[in-house]
Amino acid sequence: MFGALRSFISADMAIDLGTANTLVYVKGKGIILNEPSVVAYKTKDGKKEVLAVGEDAKLMLGRTPGSIEAIRPMRDGVIADFGVAEEMIKHFIRKVHKAGNWAKPKVIVCVPYGATPVEKRAIRDSVRQAGAKKVGLLAEPIAAAIGAGMPITDPTGNMVVDIGGGTTEVAVLSLGDIVYARSVRVGGDRMDEAIISYLRRQHNLLVGDTTAERIKTSIGTARMPDDGRGQVMEIRGRDLLNGVPKETEVTQAQVAEALAEPVQQICEAVMTALESTPPDLAADIVDRGVMLTGGGALLGDLDLALREQTGLAISVADETLNCVALGTGKSLEYEQQLLHVIDFGS
Ligand SMILES: Nc1ncnc2c1ncn2[C@@H]1O[C@H](COP(=O)(O)OP(=O)(O)OP(=O)(O)O)[C@@H](O)[C@H]1O
Ligand SMILES: [Mg+2]
Repeated sequence: MFGALRSFISADMAIDLGTANTLVYVKGKGIILNEPSVVAYKTKDGKKEVLAVGEDAKLMLGRTPGSIEAIRPMRDGVIADFGVAEEMIKHFIRKVHKAGNWAKPKVIVCVPYGATPVEKRAIRDSVRQAGAKKVGLLAEPIAAAIGAGMPITDPTGNMVVDIGGGTTEVAVLSLGDIVYARSVRVGGDRMDEAIISYLRRQHNLLVGDTTAERIKTSIGTARMPDDGRGQVMEIRGRDLLNGVPKETEVTQAQVAEALAEPVQQICEAVMTALESTPPDLAADIVDRGVMLTGGGALLGDLDLALREQTGLAISVADETLNCVALGTGKSLEYEQQLLHVIDFGS
């Protein structure tokens, strides 16, 4: 009885609606859902019928027959397909709430810093449609910094770099708010695309998104290996010359070469942020270093590459993939202190 009562009271939630992964945090419980932002559906009589969402749907990406489509409704950090995104949000909220003991919850969703009013409204409407009573929006860099445990309410400059699937957001925070932020459309997806195009150009080999991501997460690196070769991985794809499946080896050095451009773009975004930061806050960042969050922060040696380029100390947050969800979740607990940055709309 008390269990039911408690989940009734703590129905408020926080959602990190990411390009690659969606996480749901329930107040008092922590992160209780973490699934790929993927939906598989069939179109019947012009209407989309959802077949699978999340983990199950991701298995279908790139492998569906003509009648079924598996898509990622979020692109570049914002909603690309409203109808499908709404179905996905509804599915996840329902999954979290397992019918029955829930009042219409308050939900805080984090949104990319650069989201337009139209994009914000779309997210707010989708979450409301999914059953929320009140929807608050929180800028992603603030959520990432809170989740990484940074002292963002202090009167000092703190720099956080969140490297997600769709975007990299660089922000300087002080006194609980954003002093400078910039979002570039470079993240894990762009890295996967860079690997695909490298293999096509250099090896005449066509690989899918899933294989490219696997190469990146297994041996991906932001720096040339010291021996000029590094680890080796067996991969499979389609030979573009004769059209048949082919197996080949790819070295870490090749992946480093493939990833050079997106890595450089991330470094440049950090440099631009430093140049645009007021001098006293920039001095704080020199003292305190830079915090990396998001899945892209796990790319091998990205911290080293960034340190070489910027001369700053770089740390990778604990639980880097969870930072934004944890930070948005904490904002539910500390709502009063953060009221000035949570946008509850009209
Ligand atoms: N070990 C790893 N090395 C490199 N990249 C990784 C690693 N693990 C995960 N990633 C990448 O991190 C990305 C997902 O990160 P994250 O969950 O932070 O993104 P997201 O929040 O969904 O996206 P966004 O914030 O842009 O909307 C994916 O592109 C994934 O391939
Ligand atoms: Mg994210």
